[in-house]
Amino acid sequence: MAGSETSFVHLRANIENYRQIMDISQKEILTHLNKPIFRLISGAADELKLECFLIGGYVRDFFLRRPSDDIDIVAVGKGIELAELVAKKLGRNTSLTVFKNFGTAQIKHKGYEIEFVGARKESYSFDSRKPIVEDGTLEEDQRRRDFTINAMAFCLNENRYGELLDPFNGMQDIRDLIIRTPLDPDITFSDDPLRMMRAIRFASQLGFDINPDTFDAIGSNRERINIISMERVTDELNKIILSPKPSVGFILLEKTGLLDIILPELTALKGAETKDGVGHKDNFYHTLIVLDNMAKQSDNLWLRWSALLHDIAKPLTKRWDPKLGWTFHNHNFVGEKMIPKIFRRLKLPLNEKMKYIQQMVSLHMRPMQLVEEEVTDSAVRRLLFDAGDDIDDLMTLCEADITSKNPEKVKQFMHNFMIVRRKLKVIEEKDRVRNFQPPVDGNEIMEVFGLPQGREVGLLKSAIKEAILDGVIPNEHDAAYRLMIDKAKEWNLTPLKKD
Ligand code: CTP
Repeated sequence: MAGSETSFVHLRANIENYRQIMDISQKEILTHLNKPIFRLISGAADELKLECFLIGGYVRDFFLRRPSDDIDIVAVGKGIELAELVAKKLGRNTSLTVFKNFGTAQIKHKGYEIEFVGARKESYSFDSRKPIVEDGTLEEDQRRRDFTINAMAFCLNENRYGELLDPFNGMQDIRDLIIRTPLDPDITFSDDPLRMMRAIRFASQLGFDINPDTFDAIGSNRERINIISMERVTDELNKIILSPKPSVGFILLEKTGLLDIILPELTALKGAETKDGVGHKDNFYHTLIVLDNMAKQSDNLWLRWSALLHDIAKPLTKRWDPKLGWTFHNHNFVGEKMIPKIFRRLKLPLNEKMKYIQQMVSLHMRPMQLVEEEVTDSAVRRLLFDAGDDIDDLMTLCEADITSKNPEKVKQFMHNFMIVRRKLKVIEEKDRVRNFQPPVDGNEIMEVFGLPQGREVGLLKSAIKEAILDGVIPNEHDAAYRLMIDKAKEWNLTPLKKD
């Protein structure tokens, strides 16, 4: 099912790089492994008479020519002992953390993070919670890893230095751009169901296809994702969002049924209803295009989340109006309100990052409305005031939101947004409303009129703010002060002392 359907040739701009894998010579491997850190680990392993291998993501990324500082070492026998000797040899500026129960140890040294583990026979425990440690051979260890491309190992012992151990043909899968489990995928996924998310994440990150059997097993094991902690699932979700073309990952999540479990609000966007010959767009695919557009513009995870959630309330607000057709009134405000619940469930931070996304979702229609009506100074000032420092991000989101297939329309919208951006700049330079603090504040109002905190102070404050945003007065203290006195007169308020 997955194979051809999910093949994303577009992502394979890297293909030429991948092809060069075939050209990687043994000499190049040895040159790379000649780094002092590997030589030092090698020496320590030989001293302890332990077979020792560089394994996993580092090896994969070496062949994909993606630089990595995360090193995984597997020793046949005592991984911890090896780590202790390596730490000793590295000397200063080295931290060693040992997890005795899990038979693992971690060294941090000069930007490297090196994990040591003894080769294991049975089910791997990658979340470091289940202390299952049964010693095994290298191959037994490799077969319990997630994917063939992550199961390749280079020997680090002097007599076999740089020898590639690849019993599951990971190299061939790298050449073919395939994610495949070394064992029957049902076994691999039941060892650690998070691997279902990882398969999709690697597909999205690297532009690989998922092998059909592996793909089908994700579908049939999908409910098992519920036993994984939300933090780990969300971590993978974030990596998918940060991948070069996130729609690839989301389409796979949707097709395997995982998305319905972890983010049902998104699958609810699916479908395009038609009534009396009037249809609306499929908001799921629209959202994914917006996210891809955004991925071309920004690596900011939270801005990408804003793209993903910008229309999240469309299913809730959808109405059929015989005169207007399909409407989604206030979907931006309803969407803003939905976000805390989603964030709480996904264990995403409930802090200013979330507020930022809420702000983006709430304001995402404003620049378009501004273009559709008239780009007046006061409307631009209000937008600047409401968006504050996030105005540029908001404009980027609005531009990403243009997914029309009509190139003329796209050109027109982009042109209009360019006018808005220009106008935003001019007005900001002139009126400085971006981080607007009214030049006469509540304290001053209370002092001038001898008023306690309350309604009248609020009314005067907002009269000043509105006058500035409408361009009736400049954003300056004296003008604001005069306006306050005039307004107060209308409401029969007199200052305590005359100026
Ligand atoms: N691994 C696994 N199953 C998991 C997690 C990890 O089999 N659920 C194995 C894989 O061999 C993987 C290695 O442990 O390559 C290291 O894991 P990790 O550092 O989490 O991932 P990487 O593959 O290095 O990739 P990334 O750093 O992008 O997560």
